[in-house]
Amino acid sequence: MSSDHENHREDVAGRANVEDTPELLAYYDDLEGKNAGALWTVANKIEPWEPQSQSVPVVWRFKDLREDVLKSLALVTPEKAGRRVVYLSNPGRRDVTAAVGWIYAGLQVMNPGEAATAHRHSASAIRFIMEGEGAYTVVDGHKMTLGANDFVLTPNGTWHEHAVDASGTTCIWQDGLDIPFVNAMEANFFEVHPDLSEPVAYPVDDMTKTWGNAGLTPNGGDWDKGYSPMFKYEWEPTYESLVKYASCTDGSPFDGVLMEYVNPVNNGPVMKTMGASMQLLRPGEHTKAHRHTGSYLYHVAKGSGHSIINGKRYNWQEKDIFCVPSWAWHEHANASDREDACLFCLSDLPVIRALDLYKEQAFGDNNGNQPIL
Ligand SMILES: [Fe+2]
Ligand SMILES: [Fe+2]
Repeated sequence: MSSDHENHREDVAGRANVEDTPELLAYYDDLEGKNAGALWTVANKIEPWEPQSQSVPVVWRFKDLREDVLKSLALVTPEKAGRRVVYLSNPGRRDVTAAVGWIYAGLQVMNPGEAATAHRHSASAIRFIMEGEGAYTVVDGHKMTLGANDFVLTPNGTWHEHAVDASGTTCIWQDGLDIPFVNAMEANFFEVHPDLSEPVAYPVDDMTKTWGNAGLTPNGGDWDKGYSPMFKYEWEPTYESLVKYASCTDGSPFDGVLMEYVNPVNNGPVMKTMGASMQLLRPGEHTKAHRHTGSYLYHVAKGSGHSIINGKRYNWQEKDIFCVPSWAWHEHANASDREDACLFCLSDLPVIRALDLYKEQAFGDNNGNQPIL
């Protein structure tokens, strides 16, 4: 486990091992005064033997946060707040407002009859619907109705607006954005729609009806944007697909039965910077442990269980959100012997893969499971 990097000694050839002397300290001061520095004073820190995530594993329990989220309804209006959201704060990533790695997440709440101002930004976003009825999102003129466990995209640069029908109920959903990543790239723009609202220009749910048909693409359908034209992936067909796939596969020893949400045009990730998957853990399933690069934010779509992350057990149940930092050992277990459990996962895998930074390692020892620390 952590012994791996404990074994990574720094007092070896090829690593920086320069002892301070009065002469060197004076030299460092001199360089600092000229906005420069000696690499060997920072080299081992900036180039660790293996990824050193600043993020810590966290479970955000819905039963603890739900009341706080609802409380915000009376405290601020969406007009005043822009977006009425309680964000998830990772103790190791407070400086960049990330839930894990370079991914931001929050819980947004809206009353029936409310609407948030239409806007667009360089950051890409996803929604994962948690509770309530009548919520809808408009993305570049495409209106989508939203139900529990639906997964929705608002890709970078698209105008978007969220609202709940007057006939609906109070709605809560998870927002996930690559804000910290886009800020790290120093490339984030934000724009409020000149009319504060955007017109609906197409039939309701047209993008899912057009692009969301299993094994079929629309006649003459062309799409050249870098993100999926299927802006909404509904829960029911997703779950059905997992159950079908589970009936004919052993799945992965590390993930159970996992399927990735894809852009139907090219089977690539739904957006360039963030990808998502849904996985099913069969009754009684306890996966083997592995670790890989990339940051992962899990959302329990169904059932209950626990994950062991870097040797520590984290229990979860429906609607809880938890994170697995980059290169952290992890394994998942379904608590039920009768029901399956489903985990939605938002990640930065598209970036990791596109930049050839993906690495994976099986735990191996102890029959593939981590001893609890
Ligand atoms: Fe937005
Ligand atoms: Fe994994």
